[in-house]
Amino acid sequence: MRTQVAIIGAGPAGLLLGHLLKAEGIECIVLERRTGDYVLSRIRAGVLEQVTVGLMERLGLDGRIKAEGLPHDGFNLADGERLIRIDIAALTGQQVMVYGQTELTRDLMDATDERGLEVIYEAADVALHDIDGNSPYVTFSSAGARQRIDARFIVGCDGFHGPSRKAIPAGAGREFERVYPFGWLGILADVPPCNHELIYANHERGFALASMRSHTRSRYYVDVPLTEKVEDWSDERIWDELAIRLGPDAAAHIMRGPSIEKSIAPLRSYVFAPMRHGSLMLCGDSAHIVPPTGAKGLNLAASDVHYAAEALTGFFKRNDRDAISGYSDKALARVWKAERFSWSLTRLMHRFPEDGDFERAMQVAELDYIATSRAAQTSIAENYVGLPV
Ligand code: FAD
Ligand code: DHB
Repeated sequence: MRTQVAIIGAGPAGLLLGHLLKAEGIECIVLERRTGDYVLSRIRAGVLEQVTVGLMERLGLDGRIKAEGLPHDGFNLADGERLIRIDIAALTGQQVMVYGQTELTRDLMDATDERGLEVIYEAADVALHDIDGNSPYVTFSSAGARQRIDARFIVGCDGFHGPSRKAIPAGAGREFERVYPFGWLGILADVPPCNHELIYANHERGFALASMRSHTRSRYYVDVPLTEKVEDWSDERIWDELAIRLGPDAAAHIMRGPSIEKSIAPLRSYVFAPMRHGSLMLCGDSAHIVPPTGAKGLNLAASDVHYAAEALTGFFKRNDRDAISGYSDKALARVWKAERFSWSLTRLMHRFPEDGDFERAMQVAELDYIATSRAAQTSIAENYVGLPV
């Protein structure tokens, strides 16, 4: 097979890029290791920036987001009894959209046939070749047969563990990493949310987040040591812990119900730079990971895809090679700022095992400052809604 762009991974980044390239008349094929149903079964992010919604709008695939998404004007930081509301609408003039990653992926998936976007699911043993030159190719197994796709570019949208980043020769890039000593234990349940806006809570027993997918479906998280096993957390134990950590006001409104999904996600900050090597470009989690505290992971994947689509369009439509060579710097400028925001909000809202009284006093002082300073609130709000692309 031959195409212009071979995309590895049909998560949100790969599908979004495929649709954007198709819309520009650029040929591409998306390769995914799993089945479509498996991709849709992964419960992940829940908050979309305007930039991400804007890309769906540009594709004309924002119908369900507009109909079913929940626009939010603010969110809350809780510390013990105190609740600090960040009025993002008043401070930035923008909103965020509460809409699950699963739903966004489904919208992109549902449109593939109609728009002629070819996605090959259950592609096994995907391997990248000749990425240093201008004629890279991808090999994989499908239905028992070994296949090959020749392309002008390969875009790695295959997440943190995928083969794309690993195909870059040692020494051709640099890794920056911070691993955190805890993970987020998430629970999804068909019960109304305890609050109409999100609450990120820093409690002496640890972090908690009250989020939602709709008026009837809630998503909650508590942080747990990496040694914890999800089997040791019954639904009741999670609800009890949430009621303590989120504080009495929220606890009074928590509706309990059986979990639809329960999982632990480790927290990590990671950047691989540069985000391009030869004819391979990286987008989303294949190039970087943020801890989930700022809701930036999926949104960064979308902004990378925006820059990558722009660069590839420049190349194929205007023979603009500089567009390709400028991709990594453009994407990384936004990535680093989101890494900083996610790291600082993680630092502010979690109790780190190595922290002493001084570090805790710094959290209290920072939360005091945020509670009383419009400038501090604006800084948080403009990062939360997403910096401009
Ligand atoms: P992915 O969604 O990981 O998609 C990559 C795709 O590539 C997958 O479909 C995968 O199957 C495929 N792939 C992998 N290897 C191969 C291969 N060898 N061949 C072919 N295909 C391959 N962000 C938030 O903002 N909030 C959250 O609550 C949140 N929770 C998360 C929980 C977990 C467990 C994880 C892992 C991430 C979470 N994130 C969250 C981050 C957010 O979900 C990601 O940033 C987002 O999914 C990135 O999209 P992506 O398309 O780059 O990568
Ligand atoms: C959700 C996840 C996040 O990481 C976050 O910051 C906000 C919401 C969620 O899954 O709903």
